[in-house]
Amino acid sequence: MKTFEEIASLFSRHGGGAYFGEAVTQLDHALQAAHFAAADGAADELVVAALLHDVGHLLQATPDDLADWHTDARHEVEGATWLAKRFPREISESVRLHVPAKRYLCATDPAYMAVLSEASIVTLRLQGGPMSAAQVAQFETEPFHTEALQVRRCDDRGKMAGLKVRGLADYRLLVQRFAPA
Ligand SMILES: [Fe+2]
Repeated sequence: MKTFEEIASLFSRHGGGAYFGEAVTQLDHALQAAHFAAADGAADELVVAALLHDVGHLLQATPDDLADWHTDARHEVEGATWLAKRFPREISESVRLHVPAKRYLCATDPAYMAVLSEASIVTLRLQGGPMSAAQVAQFETEPFHTEALQVRRCDDRGKMAGLKVRGLADYRLLVQRFAPA
């Protein structure tokens, strides 16, 4: 199956579920994150990364209800591994680092915690809490950490009930540009 069709199939099977404790579905969340990346004038790679940053959740059967989610499901690693077989590293690495990016921003940007949703604060604990100074320094050595921070900020904004944005089909050509197989 071609990559875009695989993605469309993942969203149609699992994308209608609630996005962990938020007022939007997984598909709404992905489309809104991509919308904000494009609206910010991000590189096309980052629009695709924002669209697919939670593909790991679609590959895993994680519960819709956050209360049932007791461990960190490491969705960013599973998603990045899947993406790395299909897309350039800028995309897969931005996705792999989007959870560390949250922990980084919590440690380095005092205003950032204020924008986190309640559900995101719960998962922050499961993900290890804010980074230590040593972890911050290590994160800054990652080649795609700046891109991951951009994806993270789009992730945090993509939780708006009722916001109308472009549909998945509108991203077909962009996805195919980076994943022609
Ligand atoms: Fe997300």
